[in-house]
Amino acid sequence: MAVHKVTFLPQNVTVEVDDEKYPLADHGKPGSLLDIALAHDVHLEHNCGGSCACTTCHVIVRQGEENLSEMEQDEEDRLDMAEGLTIRSRLGCQAVVRGDVVVEVPK
Ligand code: FES
Repeated sequence: MAVHKVTFLPQNVTVEVDDEKYPLADHGKPGSLLDIALAHDVHLEHNCGGSCACTTCHVIVRQGEENLSEMEQDEEDRLDMAEGLTIRSRLGCQAVVRGDVVVEVPK
């Protein structure tokens, strides 16, 4: 069992998740930022239902980039279309949490 801390900005909500309990909700990859957000009532848009087909779950990683799953090609391709893209951007439904992270949900 490993417990990870995930902080969502600007709400500044920190939740602790046990990765043995993934998936926590029912959208996105099990243990993804979207999965965790939905399980803890943190608002994160997910127009396509977490299947890497929109960009509404876009987040910017502020800390712990190395604690997220590596980006796969389909995420990279989709992310290119995200509004306000940064080099620290990820799709919340695709990035799986494997350690402590801080992410910002853009407006
Ligand atoms: S919810 Fe649509 S790409 Fe993540």
